[in-house]
Order: sequence, then structure tokens, then C-alpha cells
Amino acid sequence: MTPHINAQTGDFAETVLMPGDPLRAKYIAETYLENVREVTNVRNVLGFTGEYKGKPLSVMAHGMGMPSISIYAHELINFYGVKQLIRVGSCGGVDEELKLRDLIVATSASTNSAMIRDRFAGYDYAAAPDFELLKACSEAAKELDLSPRFGNILSGDLFYGSNPALLPAMQKMGVLAVEMEAAALFAIAAEFRVKALCVLTVSDHLITAEETSSEERQNSFNQMMELALETAYA
Ligand code: HPA
Repeated sequence: MTPHINAQTGDFAETVLMPGDPLRAKYIAETYLENVREVTNVRNVLGFTGEYKGKPLSVMAHGMGMPSISIYAHELINFYGVKQLIRVGSCGGVDEELKLRDLIVATSASTNSAMIRDRFAGYDYAAAPDFELLKACSEAAKELDLSPRFGNILSGDLFYGSNPALLPAMQKMGVLAVEMEAAALFAIAAEFRVKALCVLTVSDHLITAEETSSEERQNSFNQMMELALETAYA
């Protein structure tokens, strides 16, 4: 047990899929996994372990923002021996060619947070996912006939009230989309020599101001889940 996870040693599989929302974790476990059991519920941040195509797989929520995902990822890696963490989430589109419901796979994550610098003696660390997982994801996308955009995203600290200069800077530098966790996940995974990946669906667009309906979100969510599950299975 850890301060934030009440599972026993050995309760988690080596690979954990991580949505932000605990009820999403429950939905993923019940919809896509077999022989599922709940393994943790501290603060209602639910975690489950089951099997995907006969292979052990866990799913656990990470909450919102980099402090939250940092706590859960740290404990999963250091106390439960987790070796692969795959965030499955939503993001706000920045790139004008992105449409709502498009899939994004982060090849790197910029940030306006000071958290990553804290880990890196005050310098700018290049937070990036694991290459093997990226490669597996790219191959899985081809198999599934999906065409995610691969590129740089930004993990922001503020959902409301970001610096107005940030959006034009992201457009200038070719940042595809914003979310709030990937950079911290990539940095922790790097520090502890485990693998991380982040797969996203575009739920809203910062330029066009479009938003998806809950039904549309569900469809793109299913595609993202197939991509993440097949990547985990590879
Ligand atoms: N900003 C930050 N995180 C997000 C957004 C957004 O617009 N949409 C989905 N996650």
C-alpha cells in the first residue's frame, strides 16, 4: 500500500492504461478487459486489473493535471513495478488542420509548468514518450486502419486563464494540441527507466471553438482505446 493506492503488491499488471477520470477507468475495464477486479479505490481514484486477449493489463485513473498524474505514476512505478504507462485522454486542438475527434499520439510534450525543470536542475528537459511504444503504436494504427497525427503537444498547468501569448507561440512552433499531463508522465518514466506513451482524442478546438457531443466523444474514444490496447498488447 502507498499513500494513494491501496492495492497489494502484485495487483497491477506491468502495463497500465491511464485515463483522467475514475469512471472512465471503470468503463474501460468493464468494456475491454476480461476477468476484471478492482485493485484500488483511495479517493475514488479507481484502478482495475484484468486481461486483454489473455494478457494481464491494468487500468487506473490519474486525475487532472501534472501534480496528480505524477503521484500515481510515481507510486505505480516505484511500489508496484509498473513498466509501461499509457495515458488515454482528451485534448484541445491547436493545429488548424485538426478536426474534432481526430486521434493524436504525442511524440514529445512541451510545457509551461515548472515541474519538469524541477527534475532537471532548472533546465529545459525534452519530455518524450518511449520509442518502442511509439513504434508499436504506429504499427497498431496501420493494422487498425487509423491515421493519428503524431507530433508535439503542450501539457499546460492552467485549463482556464493561460497566458494569451501561449496560443500564438504554440501555433508558431507547430504544437498540435493542449492537455494537462503528458510532459510529467514522460519525465517520470524517463527518470525511472520505464516506458510511457500518450494517446489523445481532440475533444474541443482552441481556434475553431468547436466542441464534440458526448455521443461523438464516445465513438472517437473507442478508436483511441483500440489503438492503446493493441499498442499495449504488442
Ligand atoms: N486544455 C487543456 N486540456 C484539455 C483541453 C484544453 O482545451 N481539452 C481537453 N483537455
